Amino acid sequence: MQLKPFLLDAWLDHYEHDIEFNLAASTGPTWTVNDILALADDETRHRFLNHNLVYSRPAGANSLREAIAEMQRVPVEAVQIVTGASEALVALMWLAAEPGANVIIPLPGFTTFSALPESLGLETRCYRVRRENGFRIDPDEIKRLADSKTKLILINSPHNPTGATIGDDEMEALHDFTADRGIQLVSDEVYHPIYHGRQTKSAARLPHATVISDLSKAFSIAGVRTGWMIEHDAQRRQQYWTARAYFSISNTTTGEILSEIAIRKREAVLGKTQEVATRNLKLLERLMADHRDVLGWIPPQGGMTAFPWLVSGELLSLENARPFCQAATECGILLAPGDCFDAPSHFRLGFAAAGDNFSKALDRFGAFVKSWSARMVTV
Ligand SMILES: Cc1ncc(COP(=O)(O)O)c(C=O)c1O
Repeated sequence: MQLKPFLLDAWLDHYEHDIEFNLAASTGPTWTVNDILALADDETRHRFLNHNLVYSRPAGANSLREAIAEMQRVPVEAVQIVTGASEALVALMWLAAEPGANVIIPLPGFTTFSALPESLGLETRCYRVRRENGFRIDPDEIKRLADSKTKLILINSPHNPTGATIGDDEMEALHDFTADRGIQLVSDEVYHPIYHGRQTKSAARLPHATVISDLSKAFSIAGVRTGWMIEHDAQRRQQYWTARAYFSISNTTTGEILSEIAIRKREAVLGKTQEVATRNLKLLERLMADHRDVLGWIPPQGGMTAFPWLVSGELLSLENARPFCQAATECGILLAPGDCFDAPSHFRLGFAAAGDNFSKALDRFGAFVKSWSARMVTV
């Protein structure tokens, strides 16, 4: 069994810790433990500081599951806590890995979507989120890829890295299509509910869909490593419980209490991400307009990332944005090369993680784009 290199995490791990302006991260403004505890009442703070550092329950702490159930408007039994949405993906792909089976995933996409099934011997079939199509997630293309061996269809909306979203009616149609054929429909919603265009609903309302989500992206407290699954099917839930008991036993008790506080105070936590993302996206729109001769883009409809491409420069750069990203690091700007998402002519730009520093970061990035395009004209 082979796991392909995780290009994105290798790139981030190499540069992220020393770079002046991180525009590669897909998260939002950061929070400290103190910030989160300040949102809680005295009793919860006391509970946090005095809880026993023991194993939690494999399904997750009751009170955390209750908070998620209330937010997602589902019965508490439907909630399975996991160590990030990453662990949910391991469990789902593991359970899908039957001989001859295939899974349908987006391209470009978060590498884990392809790396896990490939390593497990599953056939991966990719639907394209193409710039020629306005980054549309096309349900017809997805349906055409499905056959009697399809175990799972994965939708990621808002989509990493493009910020594309799928409409509620399109998701409902896919839900009916998959339910009729006994295919599992998985909705990765880690960027929900951060939107810049139409608002879309969580698939938790759909009885045959499986939702995976987390506190890493929209909530932007990745350090708690809390993810969850919403599953209405009791048999599947039992399988996830068993998988997670083997994989990681339980989440940390510390992370679970902080997570519960953030979810109960979600107006403040999600509100901060949305506010920063909205403000910074406006600044990014201006930069993209100013540099439209060099950079192309389709503004994101949701989430905290955009996926621009180079429209001018030497031919090599148009096909592969890695040298552009490499040169940007020398000016203190970290972007994520598109080859990390199997789309080498693009790069990902995160606009919420730099918080209030984003304006300065864009000034630097704009100067870099200018000097880079001048250099390209002369070569
Ligand atoms: C679309 C998507 N799903 C899932 C994950 C996994 O995140 P985590 O394990 O922090 O929940 C990521 C992380 O980048 C992601 O972008």
